Amino acid sequence: MASKKATLHIEGDIPIELPIINGTQGPQVIDIRQLGTSGYFTFDPGFLATASCESQITYIDGDKGILLHRGYPIDQLANNADYLEVCYILLYGQAPNYQEYKKFKTTVSHHTMVHEQIASFFRGFRRDAHPMAVMCGVVGALAAFYHDSLDVNNDMHREIAAYRLLSKMPTLAAMCYKYSIGQPFIYPRNDLNYSENFLHMMFANPCEKYEVNPIIARAMDKIFTLHADHEQNASTSTVRLAGSSGANPFACIAAGIASLWGPAHGGANEACLHTLEEIANVDSIEKYLNKAKDKNDPFRLMGFGHRVYKNYDPRATVMREACHKVLKELNIKDPLLEVAIELERIALSDEYFVEKKLYPNVDFYSGIILKGIGIPVYMFTVIFAMSRTIGWIAHWNEMHSNPSNRIGRPRQLYTGQKKRDFKPLYKP
Ligand code: SDX
Repeated sequence: MASKKATLHIEGDIPIELPIINGTQGPQVIDIRQLGTSGYFTFDPGFLATASCESQITYIDGDKGILLHRGYPIDQLANNADYLEVCYILLYGQAPNYQEYKKFKTTVSHHTMVHEQIASFFRGFRRDAHPMAVMCGVVGALAAFYHDSLDVNNDMHREIAAYRLLSKMPTLAAMCYKYSIGQPFIYPRNDLNYSENFLHMMFANPCEKYEVNPIIARAMDKIFTLHADHEQNASTSTVRLAGSSGANPFACIAAGIASLWGPAHGGANEACLHTLEEIANVDSIEKYLNKAKDKNDPFRLMGFGHRVYKNYDPRATVMREACHKVLKELNIKDPLLEVAIELERIALSDEYFVEKKLYPNVDFYSGIILKGIGIPVYMFTVIFAMSRTIGWIAHWNEMHSNPSNRIGRPRQLYTGQKKRDFKPLYKP
């Protein structure tokens, strides 16, 4: 709701009054929608100070290190709920009761298989293809199989597409891994929960019985929850913009996967582990910190820094605790954990990092846990994409449920050539 007004005084022009709108939490916004008629645009590459939409799904306070999903704090969800409960909360807006949860879980289980033809899509890729390239392809291709859930203006179509994507992402992700190691695909099982099922599809094989380790399954589930949603990050904004044209849900999620792949975003967990491996021991930390601080050196300390968090990423706190617990329970001594802990200690007291408010983010510890539970590094960002699918779907659905939804079409500041005549090279 609008309350106060902002008045824009532009030299020589009549002052422009702009309404200020309050949210339930966080900064108020200046509604600039009618600014276009003034002959001026606002200019904010990278959206440092621009709200692209109204949303009720996730709230982040970067200064206080707060992350809420539909009002529930992330640490309470990560420690007291499972990933499917969090998916229900993100999709439907409140925690399910037991019956709602059971029904949701059963429905998800019954959509985990993919069309048998999808298996042949994989055969078109090299075995050493990056799995995010494969995921971009096969997730977008789902649109070719589900013509009955492509009408984005139909609530039922949107709901079935949500179930299909949430349910099939683990199956497709595990297929990427199996294909990369030349092992046969393992079918999903309805008697296992979401995380157990994913681990079974990843690590079982037809030659022997595979028992899922409950400690690893719990850690996997927590990692899914910690990556589920994060308001208007780059990949979610990509899904919203793609969806604003009416594109089908499978194409929009494929667009989100493509955006997440970037090393500045979801690709940071894989890049972070490579950085820790490159540092290799605590004696080299100073050298890499200096590289990170050197303006002439493109090296960045992956897993540090965040556009919104100028305090500790609350997910990193939970991830750090889980990392220690899982590696201890599995009796894994990973020298990279020692490097990570020492790197974090030194960085958090380093003047450059303190002044620029660069704290460990969600990607800093996730790679160490994933490596500890046996996930290969090249699959890290696929895990992130799987986890974030529910966030992408929730935002895509929220956008389509908003009657004032319209196609996203940003304007620009043009600094190119003014009109000039073309001189033909030859008479065509
Ligand atoms: C995710 O948006 C989200 O919510 C994303 C995410 C989600 O859940 O969806 O949280 C997931 O993407 C987490 C971030 C993962 N990325 C990394 O860990 C990559 C390393 N971090 C950076 O690339 C960077 O911090 C970003 C991209 C995360 C944020 O970039 P910003 O907000 O545009 O900030 P910036 O790049 O302008 O950096 C500000 C300053 C710069 O120095 P100056 O130009 O002011 O002198 O801090 C420096 C940067 O050079 N800086 C770093 C650094 N990150 C920023 N210097 C060294 N190492 C780093 N990691």
